[in-house]
Amino acid sequence: MNVAIILAGGKGERFGGEVPKQFVVLHGHRVIDYAVKAFEQHPQIDKIILVVPANWKAEIESEYPQHLTVLGGNTRRESSFLGLKACPINTEKVLFHDAARPFLDYDTIERVLDALQSADAVDTVIPATDTIVEVKHGVITDMPIRDYLYQGQTPQGFSYDVILKAHETIQVETTDDIRLAMEMGVECVSVAGSQFNFKITSSNDLYMAERVTQIQANKSHSKPDFKHKKVLVFGGTGGIGSALVDNLKTNGALVTAVGSEIDLTRDALPDAIDQPWDIIIHSAGLFIKKPFSELTVVEWDKVMAINLRSAFLVAQLAHQTMKRGGWLTFIGSSSSHRGRTSQSVYAASKAALNNLTQSLAAEFLDDHIRVNCINPPRTDTPMRHKAFPGEDRELLADPKRVAEDILGYCSGEETGHIVNLKYSSQFYVKR
Ligand code: CTP
Ligand code: MG
Repeated sequence: MNVAIILAGGKGERFGGEVPKQFVVLHGHRVIDYAVKAFEQHPQIDKIILVVPANWKAEIESEYPQHLTVLGGNTRRESSFLGLKACPINTEKVLFHDAARPFLDYDTIERVLDALQSADAVDTVIPATDTIVEVKHGVITDMPIRDYLYQGQTPQGFSYDVILKAHETIQVETTDDIRLAMEMGVECVSVAGSQFNFKITSSNDLYMAERVTQIQANKSHSKPDFKHKKVLVFGGTGGIGSALVDNLKTNGALVTAVGSEIDLTRDALPDAIDQPWDIIIHSAGLFIKKPFSELTVVEWDKVMAINLRSAFLVAQLAHQTMKRGGWLTFIGSSSSHRGRTSQSVYAASKAALNNLTQSLAAEFLDDHIRVNCINPPRTDTPMRHKAFPGEDRELLADPKRVAEDILGYCSGEETGHIVNLKYSSQFYVKR
């Protein structure tokens, strides 16, 4: 039997914050949940053991009744040992994994398991990209040749009896298990890890994790079931908005599409739309392309009102009407992460929308309202043609495809995503 031991017994002192880093919520799931899922999805992992701090045991146990939850120790080494001792008698191989590494992928697990066919100890490593120097008291004492240097990650895999014996007999301070096997004279082999499989150590790493989900977010999932779902689409009468509406209608949703008949610069939305919605999509936007020197304050206010201030009203509507939970989806822009010439106010409004999304996702978590912001690429829409006349349409994304990807975020548990959609046909274009 192959057992995965997920180490989540630490306090995360370098990270700081109210809860240990492995329990921090990233897009509606705790950091630890990502690793649990990765192992759950691998058919050769027969059992999962979660090693957790005392004050989290009851909660994690009730959330994962199918797995075994055990108490951690004061050090990582103790936690590993406690996990080992909780393994079933017929355990042959164990994989230790840091709960603080959310982006463990299937192939890495596979490589470790494969290597364990012929080795007793396997480490997951990536090549060191920086030159590594040893420094003591401010003075460089060694500069090992970089070609031989790697960074160790997890999972670390072992034959059960070997690592159990190492834990019982080797007395060294260690922050990982491979060192114990090394000290015992066991040959330890390495397999390739992944750059994305980094450990969340300090608070900056959480920022990095959010950026990773931003690029990895083009998820393939089963088609959402929109049958009889009540959907309200702002900006649903043109461009991406109408592609969304067409798609939703084809899939059996009850769609209300609103366009310019609702003035989004007003202080309130009309009472008529105060209905119990399942999904609200805000796809309305005003694009003014002008050098900053020509921009007036009236134009500034109008763009901000339609693109950003109205998001406040729409979020209020979602909060008031989605009593059983729902999905609030904002359509942003690729200019939200890079402001461009002559797009100052537009880029600023869309960047603010990204951060609004993250705040709302956190605040609406308990209400089960998932809030995501999808930033489409340059898309073949009337708004685009007007702003960029003569642009090669070959290089623009098809609104139908964009709509399909957006709707992937109007179902499921995912929340707080800022998704930058980009299609390979557009990658090599100078922007
Ligand atoms: N870990 C554990 N038990 C401990 C210490 C650490 O299970 N007593 C786990 C952590 O939860 C983490 C992994 O080991 O998933 C890697 O450790 P590290 O990144 O050092 O986490 P912490 O020890 O929690 O953080 P810090 O060292 O900053 O306090
Ligand atoms: Mg530690």
